[in-house]
Amino acid sequence: MDRKYFQICLLAIVFVGTIIVIIVCFEAKYGIREKVVESPFWQTSVVYQVYPRSFYDGQPDETGDITGITSKVDYLLELGVGAVWLSPVYTSPMKDFGYDVANFTEIDPIFGSMADFDDLVTTLHRKGLKLVMDFVPNHSSDQHEWFQRSVRCEDPYTDFYIWANSSGVDANGTQIPPNNWLSVFRGSAWEWNDERQQFYFHQFLPEQPDLNYRNHLVREEMKRVLTMWLDRHVDGFRIHALKFLFEIEDLSQNEPVATHSGVQDPDDYDYLNHTYTVDQPETLTVVREWRQLLNQYPDRVMMVEVYNDDIDAVMKYYGNETVPLADFPFNFFLIDNLQSRGDLTGESLRYTIDLWLDNMPEGKWPNWVTGNHDNGRVASRLGRDLVDALNMLTLLLPGTPVTYYGEELGMENTFISWDETKDPEGCRWGPDLYQEHSRDPERTPMQWDNCTNAGFTTANSTWLPVNPNYKVLNVKAQTQAETSHLKIYKELAVLRRADTFSKGHIAFPVVTKEIFSFLRYLEGSEKYLLVINTSEEELEVNLHRHANLPLPSSAVVVLRSVTDTSEKTHPGSEVPLDKVPLVGGEGLLLNLQAED
Ligand code: GLC
Repeated sequence: MDRKYFQICLLAIVFVGTIIVIIVCFEAKYGIREKVVESPFWQTSVVYQVYPRSFYDGQPDETGDITGITSKVDYLLELGVGAVWLSPVYTSPMKDFGYDVANFTEIDPIFGSMADFDDLVTTLHRKGLKLVMDFVPNHSSDQHEWFQRSVRCEDPYTDFYIWANSSGVDANGTQIPPNNWLSVFRGSAWEWNDERQQFYFHQFLPEQPDLNYRNHLVREEMKRVLTMWLDRHVDGFRIHALKFLFEIEDLSQNEPVATHSGVQDPDDYDYLNHTYTVDQPETLTVVREWRQLLNQYPDRVMMVEVYNDDIDAVMKYYGNETVPLADFPFNFFLIDNLQSRGDLTGESLRYTIDLWLDNMPEGKWPNWVTGNHDNGRVASRLGRDLVDALNMLTLLLPGTPVTYYGEELGMENTFISWDETKDPEGCRWGPDLYQEHSRDPERTPMQWDNCTNAGFTTANSTWLPVNPNYKVLNVKAQTQAETSHLKIYKELAVLRRADTFSKGHIAFPVVTKEIFSFLRYLEGSEKYLLVINTSEEELEVNLHRHANLPLPSSAVVVLRSVTDTSEKTHPGSEVPLDKVPLVGGEGLLLNLQAED
């Protein structure tokens, strides 16, 4: 009995051993235990920008807040975005609506408490979403304790800001600034401080004194700020106004007049060429320090705001393979190059997309931005008919799309009278010119439903007026409608997760004045063609005639703009590629696999 028992045990051991050997060999050959290298979240996610004052007013007082955002996390989840970028919620006198920070490590009561913030982070994380904070390093508020103490020359704060002596007194007894540098928000970038008897420098408002990054203590403090938020589990930062971080040391140098800009007004920022006050090489050293700090935490993102029409100057912020810097500088070229409908052609779109893809350093990741709190809404800038086409474009291109709240609905700029104007940039241009400069029109409350105040708040008023179109243009209406911008957006957010879009290649088979198209393909996966009619006219396009690569004779419609109601392009129908009907501004997504 014992012997039999022994034999059975032996057999069992041999059997199990053989199985183990087979598994090990199989694994070695096919690498099934090889760790799947997952893409970082900021590559797989749509980043959705929430402007907290305008998203949802949870504690009704006319201004949006953090509990409001938390209560809408399910909306974000259903929308299909993966990360929220939250514009500033720090303590602030709100001269620049949060971009004037009086305490970098506290939440402003208008937005709620730190407990509300923690709850938002936990709720987002529980549902698989990430939170990216706005980081505002270039300046603080003049109400920040550092500035107050700097004014009084209290060490170590004496040199926390950029102070300079007056270069004299004019005939009216007014102090003359050290140089001609201008503020982005117009007028001199120097403000006289009576108490300290010196000027201080401000790239933006006088209430936003620039921090002095040549002072290593400032750098240390700001790293402490980043660490504090990282330890609170935020998933990264959008770094604002990065190119303004440093100015040259020699404050006696005037900036040259931009003779070719055509700007005559000497107070207009564009009057000068900003050779001494932006994109100084030292900035990259600081970005490197922040990168190293972020790298101490797993899967954190650094997205940086750099507006510059010189593509090389922007690309520097990516760093390179040996010295990585930001994960990406925002790609603002779809905004800058396409300011109005007149700028939009198939060719200009191709040029703008290539500009980024062709100049991006090796191994880096692209991104696509069509709007934010500093730029007009897509529907107003380019046309309502283009809303779906541009969402298709940004969500289906290789790279990370960044969507400004409400763009999924095609929200429009809101008319704001001079009396109602709040944006400091608009205010500084006065009643005649404010409309060209104010950013209020794109910052109005999110349109949730057709109830009073668009369902944004139960308070009696809203901090900026709600767009009157909210009665028809709102989340509820677009959820209930058979087709809507919102429904298309949601479908896109799902589609883009397919291998063809997340890993596939891109080609541009047909690009003419009126037509833009791209093909997304990957061996063994579906092949998709996006065709956009950039014109305002209805067209029937023969894609074969213009194609620079072979296309099948027909393809199946996957998605089309809401403006197209033709039977011929109903999703699921087959469209001959020598006769593709497109209404003005339409985006039509086709599946090319059908015939292969
Ligand atoms: C950033 C913000 C902008 C703000 C500016 C100055 O560029 O995006 O809204 O006005 O910084 O603080």
